[in-house]
Amino acid sequence: MQLGDLQLLQSLLAENRWSSVFILTDENTNKHCLTSLMMCIDFPVNPEILEVEPGENSKSIEICHQLWWALNDLGADRNSLLINLGGGMITDLGGFLASTFQRGIDFIQIPTTLLAMTDAAIGGKTGINLGNLKNQIGTFQNPVAVILDQAWLETLPSREIRSGFAEVVKHGIIADNSLLKACFETDVSNQEEVFQLLEPSLKVKADIIAIDPFEKKERKFLNFGHTGGHALESLTLNDEDPLLHGECVAWGMMIATLLSIDGGGLEAEAAKELIRSIDSYYPDIQPEVEIEKMWEVMLRDKKNRNGKVNFVLLSKVSKPIANVEISMEHFAKACDDLRVMREEL
Ligand code: GLY
Repeated sequence: MQLGDLQLLQSLLAENRWSSVFILTDENTNKHCLTSLMMCIDFPVNPEILEVEPGENSKSIEICHQLWWALNDLGADRNSLLINLGGGMITDLGGFLASTFQRGIDFIQIPTTLLAMTDAAIGGKTGINLGNLKNQIGTFQNPVAVILDQAWLETLPSREIRSGFAEVVKHGIIADNSLLKACFETDVSNQEEVFQLLEPSLKVKADIIAIDPFEKKERKFLNFGHTGGHALESLTLNDEDPLLHGECVAWGMMIATLLSIDGGGLEAEAAKELIRSIDSYYPDIQPEVEIEKMWEVMLRDKKNRNGKVNFVLLSKVSKPIANVEISMEHFAKACDDLRVMREEL
């Protein structure tokens, strides 16, 4: 997989190795990003545009089925290229679409959100949801390239940037103290400052997937904050104003940090400090969901086995441990304790 900017895309397209080109967008990226992409890039063949509705609900088998047919009806073949232009929903869905159509066609990811730039589009995970279970169906398939361009961040609402920022913080917590420090000195409303964090953030992810691409061991560390976070996201998916992925991960990281005191040996003071820092960026993320419901969703998480819920916890900041089994009672207590702790911060 190559990582580069729009020039890389242009030179890949100039090689003329694809019989046809398709671009998957949602309504938002169609409106805000597609025109500028078409203006910047000289396509050797006129691309066909596929559009889905924005939002997590498009990551479904029904939408995927429609897209398989669209590719088929528009004459896609094994030498076609799919360019996924959008946030994590588009890069996950488009990656899955490309990796399954005719047993796999080439695809290029052009992530347009911070979340997709730092996480979703990198590392070869593709997927769709099964009902409200996040990414339950998917493949591991690397794109030909991931194209990064800071200009896309300008098209984003600040809430989206703050959501993606949580994954950058996660990379700092699990592996890079100086990145973590830089995160907590960053003004998330300043795109330039945020974009500066991307390189060290991507390095954390790239280093981990280089040693464990299929999540047998070290890649599990990237799930820090995601056990609770995914459950929260699943349960709020159909709310009128659903929480964003990174907002849920931010809460999930606070819970995992608190659980790390007993479950991982993290010093209480270090845990409190980290929670205080995360909370300062996400003070409004105070979930009101029933613990039992969350637990049920967590039990069905594909990362768990034998009816046990496993968390990634910390023994220290930058020292994650995977597969720590947590009981429902312990989780419920941590949720209560976290609420009280955050009120007192
Ligand atoms: N988002 C976590 C991973 O790519 O493994």
